Amino acid sequence: MEALRLGLAGLGTVGAALVRLLDQHGDDFAARCGRPVRIVAVTARDRAKVRGIDLSGVRWVDDPETLARDPEIDVFVELIGGAGGLAERAVRAALHAGKHVVTANKAMLAASGQDLAEIAEAHGLTLAFEAAVAGAIPIVKTLRETLAGNSVNRIYGILNGTCNYILTRMEAEELDFDTCLREAQRLGYAEADPAFDIEGYDAAHKLAILTSIAFGTQIDAEAIYVEGITSITPADLEAADELGYRLKLLGIASRTETGIEQRVHPAMVPKSSTIASIDGVTNAVAVESDYAGQLVLSGPGAGGNATASSVASDIADIARGIKVPTFGRAARSLAPHQRAAIQTHAGGYYLRLSVYDRPGAFASIATRMAEHGISLESIVQRRREPHADAPELLRPHSPQPVFLITYETTEEAIRAAVNQIFRDGHIASAPQLIRIEPLG
Ligand code: HSE
Repeated sequence: MEALRLGLAGLGTVGAALVRLLDQHGDDFAARCGRPVRIVAVTARDRAKVRGIDLSGVRWVDDPETLARDPEIDVFVELIGGAGGLAERAVRAALHAGKHVVTANKAMLAASGQDLAEIAEAHGLTLAFEAAVAGAIPIVKTLRETLAGNSVNRIYGILNGTCNYILTRMEAEELDFDTCLREAQRLGYAEADPAFDIEGYDAAHKLAILTSIAFGTQIDAEAIYVEGITSITPADLEAADELGYRLKLLGIASRTETGIEQRVHPAMVPKSSTIASIDGVTNAVAVESDYAGQLVLSGPGAGGNATASSVASDIADIARGIKVPTFGRAARSLAPHQRAAIQTHAGGYYLRLSVYDRPGAFASIATRMAEHGISLESIVQRRREPHADAPELLRPHSPQPVFLITYETTEEAIRAAVNQIFRDGHIASAPQLIRIEPLG
């Protein structure tokens, strides 16, 4: 049978790993696909860069758009990354030239996935993106194919390997944030601009894609409430541990009475939950659906090999002639996304306040909470031991960390209470507010 011919754009961590994978597993992969699969042409930013991969016999093309239209390729593999710009222009060129597309580009899909899927489907082409979400975990296929007979109620998980790696190492080894981030970059986990990771946008892009497939709605990344992990301090990690929780950056999409609630933020999860045990670069995604019940998939969420593995699975589908609608149903039939506002979110909250140590401060805080109908499960003041570096702590009335856990309330109520407490002048700096997720 004729070989499936690939044009590969991007030879970074993932692109280079894909070249190695196809080199190493070429014959076996061909046997699984029922035909040989060959990279026939590549393009990347820097031709001279030493990558430690064998590109002999592979044609070099100077720019991605030219490669996308190359008459000798069947599939355009886009591993450049980034929304809009070069990557998206090349993907559009490939689809208009009748090429299937395999991509790991979550930012592009979150912004333009609907349009790209409509173009692909109008041309009878595949736009495949298993590698865009959760590295090696087959969550796209699971939602799109395995769970085709289910109605999904909730999907949640750890969707960013870099953040989970940072939180895990900060907690376990008491390392500082910047050291952990630098290590994640060195290991090839972080985005080209790591702000996407630590500010929560990368997880949001992935959640937007999963929401579309899970709920049959058009992608709406703008509708996601996003907070990253940059405000998390060792004090929060320590408090979480003492209170019976672990801190994780979660992406959550759930069906509510008013629409789909989509949020990405750090969350306190019970130590006994499956998600709490997910460490390092590992991702985990839980899907709750009516017939299948709860599925939890976990595995490496970032890095060259893990991501290349998912790219290869999409290539195999195309080689085998397997065709599935891009987001699990015809793109034109996806319903408009109906957003449930974060203000209506209900749950418990953890608060860390830096409270001036003076009479009446606690009472005033408790009163403000009560005025907003918020019940406190616990309130703990930890007086720091004075030490040589912090003589101000010896002074009376200096701010002390106070940790509060609330019973279930609404986002609207807790925000109003916290703003009022801040205005009352009992706290020295902006409060830390972290949602508690009662996961199993
Ligand atoms: N920067 C991403 C992460 C890579 O850390 O999860 C995988 O999408």
